[in-house]
Amino acid sequence: MHSAVVHPEAWPKVKWPFAYDAALEQRVKSLLARMSDEDKVGQIIQADIASVTPEEVRKYRLGSILAGGNSKPGGKLSGGKAWLELSDAFYHASVDTTDGGLGIPVLFGVDAVHGHNDVVGATIFPQNSALGAMRDPALVAEIAAATAEEARATGINWTFAPTLTVPQDDRWGRAFEGYSEDPAVVASYAAAVVEGLQGKPGTAGFLDNAHVIASAKHFVGDGSTTDGKDQGDAQVSEANLRDVASAGYPPAIAAGVQTVMASFSSWNGAKMSGHKGLLTDVLKGRMDFQGFVVGDWNGHGQVPGCTNEDCPQAINAGMDMFMAPDSWRGLYKNTLAEVKSGVIPMSRLDDAVSRILRVKMRLGLFDKGSPSSQVSDNPSYALGSPEHRALARRAVRETLVLLKNHDGILPLNPKQRILVAGDGADNIPKQSGGWTLTWQGTGTTNADFPNAQSIWDGIREQVAAAGGTAQLSVDGKYTQKPDVAIVVYGENPYAEFQGDIPNLLFSPGDSSNLDMIRRLRAQGIPVVSVFLSGRPLWVNREINASNAFVAAWLPGSEGGGVADVILRTAAGAINHDFHGKLAYSWPRTAVQTPLNVGQKNYNPQFPFGYGLTYKDKDTLGKLSEVSGVKDSAVAPGLYLQRGKPVAGLTLQLTGANGATTDEVVAPASSRDGSVRITAIDYKAQEDARRIEWSGAGTASVALHSSSPLDQDRQTNGDVLLVTTMKVDALAPGKVSLAVACGDKCGASMPMDAMLATLPKGKWLRVGIPLKCFREAGADMTRIDVPFRLQSAAKATLSIARVALGTDVDKQLACPTH
Ligand code: BGC
Ligand code: BGC
Repeated sequence: MHSAVVHPEAWPKVKWPFAYDAALEQRVKSLLARMSDEDKVGQIIQADIASVTPEEVRKYRLGSILAGGNSKPGGKLSGGKAWLELSDAFYHASVDTTDGGLGIPVLFGVDAVHGHNDVVGATIFPQNSALGAMRDPALVAEIAAATAEEARATGINWTFAPTLTVPQDDRWGRAFEGYSEDPAVVASYAAAVVEGLQGKPGTAGFLDNAHVIASAKHFVGDGSTTDGKDQGDAQVSEANLRDVASAGYPPAIAAGVQTVMASFSSWNGAKMSGHKGLLTDVLKGRMDFQGFVVGDWNGHGQVPGCTNEDCPQAINAGMDMFMAPDSWRGLYKNTLAEVKSGVIPMSRLDDAVSRILRVKMRLGLFDKGSPSSQVSDNPSYALGSPEHRALARRAVRETLVLLKNHDGILPLNPKQRILVAGDGADNIPKQSGGWTLTWQGTGTTNADFPNAQSIWDGIREQVAAAGGTAQLSVDGKYTQKPDVAIVVYGENPYAEFQGDIPNLLFSPGDSSNLDMIRRLRAQGIPVVSVFLSGRPLWVNREINASNAFVAAWLPGSEGGGVADVILRTAAGAINHDFHGKLAYSWPRTAVQTPLNVGQKNYNPQFPFGYGLTYKDKDTLGKLSEVSGVKDSAVAPGLYLQRGKPVAGLTLQLTGANGATTDEVVAPASSRDGSVRITAIDYKAQEDARRIEWSGAGTASVALHSSSPLDQDRQTNGDVLLVTTMKVDALAPGKVSLAVACGDKCGASMPMDAMLATLPKGKWLRVGIPLKCFREAGADMTRIDVPFRLQSAAKATLSIARVALGTDVDKQLACPTH
């Protein structure tokens, strides 16, 4: 076990690029001198727009707001105009001095991590794991600059980017947010992206109206956690933490990055959000970082002894601004009390506030007026402009990595009859991945992406122009036999811990893509696979079955870039060659984790740096089809599937008389007959369960877990308990959904009102925020009954699946209490 003690002198020395500025320091000092304790505490708190109003920003004088991945103007997907109006509203509230406040303008941060991805109509650039394959810092800088322009066009002045993580285990759900497993690649991009976002220090463009402040994240070790567990523990030596995980920070600081976000994760058991040695001694001391440290989404609440509403430890360790999305009210109150009592020294608070004010002054926030007035100074900043889309399309071309090209089948002649198949072919959400319009990148359709182009659309356009024929068919069925098929498939969108996986199997339990490819081949049709994923996955069977295989990563809104490379020109010439080289090692088996270049016995399927061009001769033989996965591990957060509890869980019936029957298998009923369960068909034979309550008293059906489930992370992250269900019959009465955390621990949500609004006889995914259970008193760290449906009245409900998720047809709000 390594220790969590740092030796700052062993870390790189960095030079902050801004000289001491006496005028700026004087301005900060005199403003600070006029601030009350309340003003100062407000300044170090950031609230989420879903949980704060402009009026509250005015009243509490909050220093910053953010829009989390699911937080939108008016609570719904919006274009640039609504974002700009919202930004103006918060700005005007922050500078309002009518009640004697000092009117310090607010910073507004979002996760513009692959383009200004929260906003409808924005250019969506390839995700970072794709950009790594370009090895092109200059192009990364251009993308960052375009992203900054789009953000400013909508009134946003801060992005929580770049992610300088160095993912060491591709099972991590955030691997796609990192440029590379190789610290050198990440380091080579860090300054470029910071300067693209902020402008170059010392030039006129620096933090002008076309730039935003950046946030290097997540400091530090987010990508080094054991088994790639999100928000987990990086059990690595100090030298490893410095040389691998931290590689991007020195160049980012030297480029003047204005903020750094503390990681949710721990280092050798110590939470980063409370790590004074790293936040203060290394980052601010040794590495001379003079911007401010922002926390991550209630990350402070995970520091031992803290809650989301109370954490002097984080500030005292060196955090300067709390990201307290929904917890800011309690946090404000407790932090203020701790400042008054001296638990938080005034010197520390003053330092935090001064750092924030300096950043605001460098940004010109006090001098430039409302966000919209700055946009009108620069009318050319168009959200999703043709120039930005062309840039994104160029980037797509540069990111594609060719893994196989048997007999030089690529590039394809566009004059042929081409079948385009697979569920990724005409699916912009899928080709864009997580952090796209929604947090998880789910729940949207092509219609939410005006002006964007799916991969299919790009192919269709070029094939038609060349005089060929293209047909779209998701399931690969065709009317006229094609000359060749392009099959587009891959991972479905996810973000953060929702994307953590137990091994690198692609779509375990679902072989439909492979079956389709094999079927097409059996019909004599050559197949080109275009694989969409945020990370390398084990796809040896798919590669063997295909004539050519392209790792297309998550290209974003400009799907046309794929056609640019895989199709010849109408005249038959190569249009664009492949340039992408793997920035992540591609695994030989699904259990070859961690797998990183430079490690002992490095033996990947395709090494770091691999990538064919049209000049290369493809000598790839048949790949091994042994995945190495022994027990098909259950996906975390899945409880009931096809009507049956997953491994580790059992079904229980509890009658109105209180007697519980364990491990029931349908058909079954409680001994008193008050509740009965039978197998019914939903999509397949007996893949769902009907539950009938007689109304004799409160009876329930529950899922019981043999070992307690920790749902804490998911609860903090706006995840829902999602039941795929159908209302068959409902008498007015008491239906509720409960969770339990041991004998005397639990919480229950009334469901009657919501169930009454559902159409009878229709299968729907119904979600309840996990947060509701926590607010109602459940301990989400030790749930042994993740689902108990109970009724005291006569009712019939059917269920097919119970799982944690974010994609639902109907969402229940937490009952107010
Ligand atoms: C993520 C950060 C993100 C923040 C705000 C957190 O959960 O870890 O990367 O910037 O939320 O959305
Ligand atoms: C927010 C994200 C945030 C995440 C934290 C989500 O609800 O939308 O912005 O990163 O929670 O886990």
